[in-house]
Amino acid sequence: MNDLHSHILFGVDDGAKVFEDSKAILDSASSVGVKNIVLTPHYIVDSRYMSTANDNLVPFKQVKDYADGLGINVYLANEVYLSKEVVDLYKSGKTATINNSRYMLVEIPMYGKLNNVKSIFFELLSAGVVPILAHPERYTAYHGDIDFFKELRQMGVLLQANYPSLLGFYGKDAKKMLKKLLKADLISFVGSDVHSINEHKYELIPKMKQKLTKLVGKEKMSELTESNFMKVIGNELI
Ligand SMILES: [Fe+2]
Repeated sequence: MNDLHSHILFGVDDGAKVFEDSKAILDSASSVGVKNIVLTPHYIVDSRYMSTANDNLVPFKQVKDYADGLGINVYLANEVYLSKEVVDLYKSGKTATINNSRYMLVEIPMYGKLNNVKSIFFELLSAGVVPILAHPERYTAYHGDIDFFKELRQMGVLLQANYPSLLGFYGKDAKKMLKKLLKADLISFVGSDVHSINEHKYELIPKMKQKLTKLVGKEKMSELTESNFMKVIGNELI
């Protein structure tokens, strides 16, 4: 299992607070055989989550040294909250793509809709960035609106589901929506979106894999949990 979405980098967002938290989450990842993890701290304009790619290098070194000892590879990125500033933030290097590739993890408002959301995605794509939209199943304004996600996919946006949704972690609607998205073959990755050891998200992996295999088959399951991830890390096309 490889995890494209995590808040393990300590002291920069609402995830791990101190190094001890990062270590505990990495220990739990190691116990279920997670091999590669992208660290995706929030970057939200005009909020307290504005730690830049440069700032993040300091805690990253500590986390990487610990992860190396467990045999886990960690990579740096951001989960960037979509706004009209997103291309400027990318060009100025304040936000990081995944492992310096063309792929950027982004999110949109959890409730309500963002104005001009498609044109912002278009601007990112035009700047040479492939956006990966985090947890499409969680946006309440788009529950049941499968066409919105089909259009994003047609534009070239990729989708990363949170696998805990499949086990009801975010409620019935998110679970239902994720099943629809999987059935329509719109998802390219699953990730944990882990923020804290208390969520026990990595412990869900064996159960999630069983469930995912039942829904999409073994081959697709391995694409969602392993191979597409490695393409992103290697900056290959998907
Ligand atoms: Fe997240």
